[in-house]
Amino acid sequence: MSAQPIKSDERNVEKPIAVFDSGVGGISVLKHIYALLPHEQLLYVADSKYAPYGNKTPEEIQARCFEIADFLIAKEAKALVVACNTATAAAIDALRDKYTLPIIGMEPAVKPAAEASKNGIIGVLATTGTLKSAQFAGLLESYGRNVKVVTQACVGLVECIERGELNTVSTRSLIQQYCAPLLAEGADTIVLGCTHYPFVREVIREIVGEKISLIDTGAAVAKQLKRQLEEHALLSASKQPADVKFWTNSEAENSKQVIEALWGSGADVSVIL
Ligand code: DGL
Repeated sequence: MSAQPIKSDERNVEKPIAVFDSGVGGISVLKHIYALLPHEQLLYVADSKYAPYGNKTPEEIQARCFEIADFLIAKEAKALVVACNTATAAAIDALRDKYTLPIIGMEPAVKPAAEASKNGIIGVLATTGTLKSAQFAGLLESYGRNVKVVTQACVGLVECIERGELNTVSTRSLIQQYCAPLLAEGADTIVLGCTHYPFVREVIREIVGEKISLIDTGAAVAKQLKRQLEEHALLSASKQPADVKFWTNSEAENSKQVIEALWGSGADVSVIL
């Protein structure tokens, strides 16, 4: 008997999910996606050559996002996750205008933090670009009215994490400097509003102490992705463990090692320049 032709929708469901960030930070989100959807093929682009996005204009960030989205869509992505708060703020609308596939973005967890805070004071650590964005202003307007929100741009911290310096003297001193104003204002809940920061969560924890809640949105983004795949009938039917493929355009000699250190050894990393 001849093989049945595969229906087009059956082919689509086995296509990969594409995830990208200005660099390696989005790997913190990728980990949640892999844990929740272990049978989905995953593609990840670290745009490290152009990191940080935090001090770029929205137009510059949109141009980077289009280039990466084109690369990933050419690899037949069925959904796109913008695993970057800064890129989401600058480019999510432009991406959704240009492409038809489901696109999932992310934003600092102001809403859950405002709900979790007991004393009504929350701190937000994020990039300058995120904090200056209209999206963030909208978040404060919607969810920050009944709490005091102390924001702190963490200039230079993304670069430390890109270099794989998660617990060096200079990384610790930057974190200390950026957490100090939040502690001085009495925040009992701190939002990690950049996908790089979960990789220094332990250092932040040591500096702020055990009593303060640290909140990020990686798990929520993975759940939102799953919901979107269900709505579009795009969930994989595979029972096989999926492949995860990384691309980086970093010019650093240790770029593969940094990705392996954050994801785990044996990561399949290609360098694109
Ligand atoms: N991971 C990005 C974010 O969530 C970092 C942005 C940057 O490169 O400055 O905002």
